[in-house]
Amino acid sequence: MGRTQTQTIGIIGSGLVGGAIARLAADAGYRVVLSNSRGPETISHLVQELGPRARAGTVDEAIAAGDIIALTLPLANAEALPAGELAGKVIIDQTNYYPEFWRNTELDSGEITSSELVQRHLADSTVVKALHNLDWNHMYSNARPTGDPERTTMPIAGDDATAKDIVTQFLETVGYDVVDAGSLAESWRIEPNTPIYFWPYAPAIPDGLTEDEQKRFYLEHPVPPVTPAVARKMIDSAERVTPAGGTLAAMPPAHVAIFMELASGDTVQK
Ligand SMILES: NC(=O)c1ccc[n+]([C@@H]2O[C@H](COP(=O)([O-])OP(=O)(O)OC[C@H]3O[C@@H](n4cnc5c(N)ncnc54)[C@H](OP(=O)(O)O)[C@@H]3O)[C@@H](O)[C@H]2O)c1
Repeated sequence: MGRTQTQTIGIIGSGLVGGAIARLAADAGYRVVLSNSRGPETISHLVQELGPRARAGTVDEAIAAGDIIALTLPLANAEALPAGELAGKVIIDQTNYYPEFWRNTELDSGEITSSELVQRHLADSTVVKALHNLDWNHMYSNARPTGDPERTTMPIAGDDATAKDIVTQFLETVGYDVVDAGSLAESWRIEPNTPIYFWPYAPAIPDGLTEDEQKRFYLEHPVPPVTPAVARKMIDSAERVTPAGGTLAAMPPAHVAIFMELASGDTVQK
């Protein structure tokens, strides 16, 4: 039996990003257990869509079942996660710092990176920052099998070599090449507003389109791949963002428009 059929990805947060990593994992043959704050019954529609490899659970159940745990909840809520239950687990930290929504003085001052903050709380887990630097739609649609000329490259960062290997294998299996951006202390190189964040994984929108056409183009137009060499250059050329954190104004406008529509309950196809 292959590795994917025997591994389970426990997902904490079943929104846009939780749904995207769940689809990637289930498509690649992993089992997934999705959880959220409101309870498993509120995830039944998504689980049904994902098929027999997916099930809904409580946060505790997702943690217990997961060989790898994906954090796909707001960073602000990560401090409420049960560190004891997560002890010994490999964590994919997909969260980002957006001071517009939540402020933290240590992050603002650049004393630590957001993934160091998560690692400090989850002191007995091994945190790897990954799959945080593109939007939920392209997180799924940009994935390609090994050898595909359109396969793109993702950065990871972490302090534990074994955990990084495990997350690299996961990313390579679901559809991405991987470059190592260094330690969690160095993960500012791949945080919001750095060269490898968001824009390289979304299409450049041509001038002259209406807002609806821009959104459609953003969702449907193919995105040229980032090669490992280009990813490495972007990581190496990054300058530390001061103050730390992303802003909606620095993100692709079509992404923000789609995100806002979804948040307001309007119907935009993901
Ligand atoms: N949106 C993007 O394109 C994007 C891309 C890359 C990274 N990110 C990062 O990914 C994270 C999630 O973003 P998103 O857009 O997917 O958000 P979202 O759609 O609002 O989903 C957030 C999910 O987290 C769950 N949650 C919140 N607090 C929780 C808790 N204490 N325990 C368990 N589950 C909890 C929510 O539960 P309920 O459903 O019960 O409310 C919801 O399912 C954020 O940190 C964001 O910065 C976002």
